[in-house]
Amino acid sequence: MNTNLLQPFEYDALGALRSRIAMAAMTRGFCGPNHTATSLMAEYYGKRADNGVGLILTEGTIIHTTGDGYNNVPHIETDQQAKSWGPVVSRVHESGGKIICQLWHCGRISHSDYTGGVPPLSSSDVAAEGINRQNGRPFGRPKAMAQEDFAVVTDQFVRAARNAIEADFDGVQLHFGHGYLVDQFFDNRINRRADCYGGSVGNRCRFAVEILEQVIAAIGAPKVMVRISPSREMGGAIYEWQDLEEMLKYLLSAFDRLGLRMLDISCANSDYYSTAGRLVRVARQVWPYFLIGGASLSVEQAEDEVRSGFLDMVTWGRALIANPDLPIRFKNREPLIQFDRDMLGYLS
Ligand SMILES: Cc1cc2nc3c(=O)[nH]c(=O)nc-3n(C[C@H](O)[C@H](O)[C@H](O)COP(=O)(O)O)c2cc1C
Repeated sequence: MNTNLLQPFEYDALGALRSRIAMAAMTRGFCGPNHTATSLMAEYYGKRADNGVGLILTEGTIIHTTGDGYNNVPHIETDQQAKSWGPVVSRVHESGGKIICQLWHCGRISHSDYTGGVPPLSSSDVAAEGINRQNGRPFGRPKAMAQEDFAVVTDQFVRAARNAIEADFDGVQLHFGHGYLVDQFFDNRINRRADCYGGSVGNRCRFAVEILEQVIAAIGAPKVMVRISPSREMGGAIYEWQDLEEMLKYLLSAFDRLGLRMLDISCANSDYYSTAGRLVRVARQVWPYFLIGGASLSVEQAEDEVRSGFLDMVTWGRALIANPDLPIRFKNREPLIQFDRDMLGYLS
C-alpha cells in the first residue's frame, strides 16, 4: 500500500485524493450577509487545495440558528445559505481537492444573543463556566432538551446534511466533539439526565447514534464522517470521557453497525500523543476503516502515523492558516511560517 503522505491515493467513498494531508475544521468568522459563504472563503479553501491538500474540512457550519454561538459563522440551514456554498465547493473541486462540510450545533457554548433569543439547548440546564469571548457576557443558562427537542435537532442535522449534498460537498462531518451539543451528552459532568439519554455509557451515546442513523438514512453512509474528542485539553487541564475505553468501543461499534466508515478523532489543541493519538491506537482495535487525526504533527511524525497504519490522513489546523502551501513546504522540507494569533484577524 502507498502510505506516503504526499502521494495521491484512492479512498472508495471520496475517490482520488491528492495527498494524505487534510485541513482540520477551523472557525474563522468571515461569513457574508445572512450567514452565507463568500468568494473570499472560496479563495481561502481553493488556495489550500491548489497546493495539494487532499481533503478540506470546512469551518464549523451551523445547522440551525438555534444552534449558533459565534460571531459571523456560516450556516447551512436555508436555501440561500446552501447555495452560497456551491462556488466554494466548485473552487476546491476545480483544483482536484475534496471538501467536506462540518455540521455544528453549539449547544450551551452559546448565549441567546446568538440563537435568535431562545435559550441554548444542552443535555442539562448547566451553564458553561466563564465568559463567552464572543460577546463578553457569561454563557447563557441552557434549556435541558425535552423529549420533543430530540427529533427537532435531529431533523436540523438531516436538513443541513441534505443541503450540503445539494451544494455538492463530498460529504458532511458531524461535529460530536469539543464540548458542543452532542459532547454535552457524552460528558457526564454536564449530563445529569435521569432518562434514556443520561447515566450509562449507552445512554450518553444515544443522541449521537440517533443523529447519525438519521443522517445516514438521508444521504447515505459513504458521505458521512464523525468527529469526536474523547480526550482533550480544556482550560489548561485534560478532560476525558468517563469510562473512556468502554465508551469509545461502544460508540465505534454502534457507528460500525450503522455503516459509518469515516472517523476523525480530535484532541483540539492538546498534545496529540497523550490524548487523541493514544486513543487512535485503542480505536484501531475495533475500527479498521478510514481514520483521520493529528494536531501540529511534524512531517516525520505524520508519516510515521500513516506508515504504522494508525491514520489514513493527517489533519493540520493552525499550520495551514499560516502556510497555505503546507504540502509544498513538507515536500521540500522547508521551514514553516509560525502561526500567530494575529493571522486570525484576516482570511487569506
Ligand atoms: C482558529 C481555530 C478555529 C477552530 N475551529 C474549529 C471548528 O470550527 N471545528 C472543529 O472541530 N475544530 C476547530 N478547531 C480545532 C482544529 O480543528 C484542530 O483540531 C486544532 O487546531 C488542532 O490542530 P493544530 O494543532 O494542527 O492546529 C479550531 C482551531 C483553531 C486554531
